Amino acid sequence: MSSFTYFNYGGQGVLHPSVLETIKANYERIEQLGAYSNAANAWIEEEKEATRSVLAELLQVKTETITLTQNTTDGCNIALWSYPWQPGDHLLLSDCEHPGIVAIAQTLVKRFGISFSFFPLFNDRDSKDERVLEVIYSHLTPQTKMIMVSHICWNTGQILPLHQIACLCHDRGLWLAVDGAQSVGVLPLNLTELGVDFYAFTGHKWLNGPLGLGGLYVNPDRLDQALPAFVGWRGLKKKQLKFEVASIAYPLLGALRTAIAIESTWGNITERYQTIVTKASDLWTKLNQLSIIKTVCFQPPRSGLVSFQIADRSADKVSLLLEEEYQIYLRSIPHPSALRASVSYKTTEIDYLIHSLKEICNRT
Ligand SMILES: Cc1ncc(COP(=O)(O)O)c(C=O)c1O
Repeated sequence: MSSFTYFNYGGQGVLHPSVLETIKANYERIEQLGAYSNAANAWIEEEKEATRSVLAELLQVKTETITLTQNTTDGCNIALWSYPWQPGDHLLLSDCEHPGIVAIAQTLVKRFGISFSFFPLFNDRDSKDERVLEVIYSHLTPQTKMIMVSHICWNTGQILPLHQIACLCHDRGLWLAVDGAQSVGVLPLNLTELGVDFYAFTGHKWLNGPLGLGGLYVNPDRLDQALPAFVGWRGLKKKQLKFEVASIAYPLLGALRTAIAIESTWGNITERYQTIVTKASDLWTKLNQLSIIKTVCFQPPRSGLVSFQIADRSADKVSLLLEEEYQIYLRSIPHPSALRASVSYKTTEIDYLIHSLKEICNRT
């Protein structure tokens, strides 16, 4: 990977060689112990518990509140299907949710005869938290039962005031589900204090873990009422595990823990977050100095996502040019049509990106 300049952590992180070694070593271990032997099964149980414990520490919650999933969308599905929906109920989403999450809402409408609507967040991407809360409040209806928002929006990088949103929900008896795809591994988190009901995330983005392993926090206060849509033998073992289903790629568990341990060598999560903001702000400032580039947000970033548009240039084409001619990986996004740079604490190549963009902009 060292020959590439990487700005895609929000899509997928980069595996450290030790993470790849852990995956291989863990598959070998299962074979050595004897697949499905008592010894292998006991080891797998230890691996699951150790991984739940590391994730719980990251999120500042109790270990038993963590459900192991395979990605963020798995966790969002679990949360959204778990409400005992009745025809006529209403689900409220922001207009900055990921298309995969919108698809879940559309399916719930067909399955349960509920309705869903968006509250406008994109136009308030630079607004203060109070304004965001006002907008949410004004879009609640007497039928609203649940709100689903991202902690960090995938297209604008905006951070939502989760604690205040959680208070608003609980004052009205609403459930709050959160998409943490872009926040876990970026923000210092304390979900116990935030007071959310569900928080879904993945290991393969900002945590730089392997594809195929994610997690979901379920608030213990919701455990009895929440219904699993998918069930299987793993969920029968304990009440707290009722959202887990069946066999997964167990060798990935230790690999995610290896990744989390390696990331922590870059500083504690507060230090890493501050570095992300400093570097993302540097990129944002330099982009705004280029006359034909416009950042999607007019305020300096508070997360690692910096989206921008280049006048008269297709974001898809620029993304391709950056990759093919400059070996810079930086994706385009559809809503709004823009380029999105994911800036990590590890990012060192901001000036090279700016230089490459200037060259591309100067082409006729
Ligand atoms: C906000 C958000 N939600 C969900 C997803 C989907 O993530 P996963 O592949 O982990 O389900 C993404 C990924 O790109 C995202 O940015």
